[in-house]
Amino acid sequence: MSSKKQSTSMVLMNYTRDPDFQDVDGVGSGTSPPLPEEKQQDSSSVKLDPAVEEYTQLKPYAGMPKEVLLLYSSQARYRVPREVLFWLIVACTLTLVALTITVIALSPRCLSWWQVSPVYQVYPRSFRDSDGDGVGDLKGIQEQLDHFEFLNIKSVWISPFYRSPMKDFGYDVEDFRAVDPLFGTMQDFEELLAEMHNKGLKLIMDFIPNHTSDKHHWFNLSRTRDPHYEDYYVWTDCNETSPRPNNWVSVFGNSSWTYDEVRGQCYLHQFLKEQPDLNFRNTDVRQEIVDIIHFWLGKGVDGFRMDAVKHILEATHLRDEPQVDPEKAPEAVTSEWDLYHDYTTSQVGLHDLLRDWRAEMDLYSREPGRYRFMVTESYDYHEVDKTMMYYGTSQVKESDFPFNFYLLDLPQNTSGLWVQQLVQLWMTNMPTGRWANWVVGNHDKPRIATSAGQTYIRVINMLLLTLPGTPTTYYGEEIGMENINVTDSEIQDPAGKYNTSASRDPQRSPMQWTGHMNAGFNNITNATWLPVHPDFTSVNVEVQKKDGRSVLSQYRFLNALRQSELPLHRGWFCFIHADANVFSYLRELDGLHRAFLMVLNFGKESAVTELSSIVELPDQLTVLMSTSGVSDGKVLQKSRILTEAGEGLVIQFSAPTRFNPDHPKQCYVSEKACYLGAMDILYKC
Ligand code: GLC
Ligand code: MG
Repeated sequence: MSSKKQSTSMVLMNYTRDPDFQDVDGVGSGTSPPLPEEKQQDSSSVKLDPAVEEYTQLKPYAGMPKEVLLLYSSQARYRVPREVLFWLIVACTLTLVALTITVIALSPRCLSWWQVSPVYQVYPRSFRDSDGDGVGDLKGIQEQLDHFEFLNIKSVWISPFYRSPMKDFGYDVEDFRAVDPLFGTMQDFEELLAEMHNKGLKLIMDFIPNHTSDKHHWFNLSRTRDPHYEDYYVWTDCNETSPRPNNWVSVFGNSSWTYDEVRGQCYLHQFLKEQPDLNFRNTDVRQEIVDIIHFWLGKGVDGFRMDAVKHILEATHLRDEPQVDPEKAPEAVTSEWDLYHDYTTSQVGLHDLLRDWRAEMDLYSREPGRYRFMVTESYDYHEVDKTMMYYGTSQVKESDFPFNFYLLDLPQNTSGLWVQQLVQLWMTNMPTGRWANWVVGNHDKPRIATSAGQTYIRVINMLLLTLPGTPTTYYGEEIGMENINVTDSEIQDPAGKYNTSASRDPQRSPMQWTGHMNAGFNNITNATWLPVHPDFTSVNVEVQKKDGRSVLSQYRFLNALRQSELPLHRGWFCFIHADANVFSYLRELDGLHRAFLMVLNFGKESAVTELSSIVELPDQLTVLMSTSGVSDGKVLQKSRILTEAGEGLVIQFSAPTRFNPDHPKQCYVSEKACYLGAMDILYKC
C-alpha cells in the first residue's frame, strides 16, 4: 500500500514540475508571470518541506495536468465504469423521454372547469339585496358565495348587470362597459370577481350582441344620422301612419318595426321597441362587439353566455316571412308563432360571427387554468340540427355547448318514455365527442317544480346530476323553489304586459335563504321587487341545510358524487330501459368495476322494473341513494326494482364486465378514457 502511494506521489511530483502546466489558479506553473521576489522565495521554501509539497501537489485535483488525467482515465478500472455509466445515463435519458411521450400520448384530456361543475344561474335582481332597495345586487351575490362552496358549484353565470334603463331588466343595455347603479359599481364587480377567483369560482357573464337599449348613445347618434353611426342599426323607409315595412314580428309580440320620428324611418327590434337590433352587416358594429368582448375578458371574466344569438342577422331583402297558417289575415299576424322565421333567424354568416368571437376568446384561454367558456342561447324547438351547429366543427371551434333546452318540455308528459325521448334527442344529434348539457329552468321559463309538480323536483335534480355533461341550475332549483303568483296589475315583465300568460315574473321571485323577513333576500327593509313565495318558511336554504333528506341535501350529495365518481363525470352513458313510468340508464367506465345504475320514476304510479335480461348487472343491487330516503341501503333483486312515482334511485354496483362493448347503439361517451386499476390511472383507449 505505502509503496503504491509513494510511486503515485513520485509520478505526481514529476508532472507538477512540468514547466508547461498552468492550472486555473496559476498554482504550480512554470510559465506563470514572474512572482514578486518574496513570493518566489516563499514557494521555493515550500518545496523544501516534503509534507507541504505533497499536499500542494494533490490538492488541486481538478487542476490535474492533462497528461496525468489521461494516464489515469485510460486505465481500465476507470475507463470501464465510466463507459458503463455513460451508456447507463444515455439509456435512462432515452427511457425517460420515451416514458414522457407515452404518458402524454396515453393520457386522456383533463376535463375543463365548465365540464366538472354544474353551471349555476344567478338572476341578480333576485338573488340577494345587500342595500335594502328591494333589488338584488353584486354585493349581495358576494355575500352569498359560501352557498356555492357548500354545494360544490364552481361555475356561476350572472344574468346582465350592465347599465340599463331596465325595460327588459338588463337585457336592454345602455352601456356595455358600465355596471348599473342598481346592481353596484365597477369596483363592486371587480371585488366580486376577485373574491370568486379566490374561492376557485368562475364567473360567466351574459353578453347581449343582438341589440342595445334605445338609450344607448349609438342609437341616438344613429337616429340623428351621424355619419359614423348611421348604419349601426337596421333602418328602412316606412309609412309613418302604418309603420310596417314587412310582416316581421317581435318575440314579445306585434310588429318588429317602430317608426322613429327623429330619423323619419323605421328601425328593427326583434324584442322590445326599446331594444333596437344592431346591424351586423356593418364592420364597425362588428368591431365594437369584439372590443367589448376584450374589455370584459381583460377584466378576467371566465366566459360568456351569448344571448339570443339566432336573431343576430336578418335578411337584407326584408321580404315577408311565410305564414304558418296561410289563410290567416295578414293583420292578424302578431305573434312569433304565426310565422316561419326564414329571414330573421339563423341567417348565413351567423356562425362566422360566433366563430370569430370564439377565436378572440381563445386568445385569453392560453394561460394555464384560464380557459374562457362560451355557451350560446338559441331556442330552435323542433330544428335540433340548427342547435347543434353552435358546436362548430372538428376544425373550427364555436360554443363549448349550446344550451340544451329540450328537457324544458319534460312537464308536458311525465313518463319514463318521454324523458328518454328528450334525452335521446340530444345524445343522438350531438356531434361525436362533444359535451352535453341539460337545462330545466331559467329566468325565461316557468320553474320546473311548478310546471312538473313538486313530486318530481328531486328526481329531476337526480336526472340532471347523473346524466353525462354539464347540468345547469337556475337559482332556487336546488331547494325546489316554485313560481309565485303575480296578479295582472303587479306584472313587471314587459313580455307579460303584451300577454299576461307570457309573463316571466313568476319564476323571478327572490331567492329563499331563510325563514325570516323577506326569506333573507333583504334583511334591511321590507322591500322586494317581486313578492317572496309564501312557502319560504319551509322552502329555504337554512332549513334545508339542517335536514339530511331535503331537496338541498340531496342536490349536494349528488353533486359531490358526480364530481368524485369517474363513471359519473366522464364515463359511458347507456340507455337501459324506459316505460310509462321509469327511465333507467347506466354510467360506467372501461376498466373500472364500479358502475352506477339509475332507475328514475317520472310516471304517475309506483312501478316494478325488471332488469333480469341485463346480464352485466349482478342479481342483487344495493341502493346508494333514494330520493324518498326509504330504500337507502336496501338490497334489491334486479328482477324487481320498486320505485314510487317521482322516486329516483342511484344504485352502485360492481361487475366484471361492462355493458357498452356489446350495446354500442345504446351507449355514448364524450371524453373517452379507460381506467387502469393496477396503477390507479386513466389512459386513452
Ligand atoms: C334572451 C333572454 C331574455 C331576453 C331576451 C332579449 O332570450 O334570456 O330574458 O328578454 O334574450 O334580450
Ligand atoms: Mg338582430
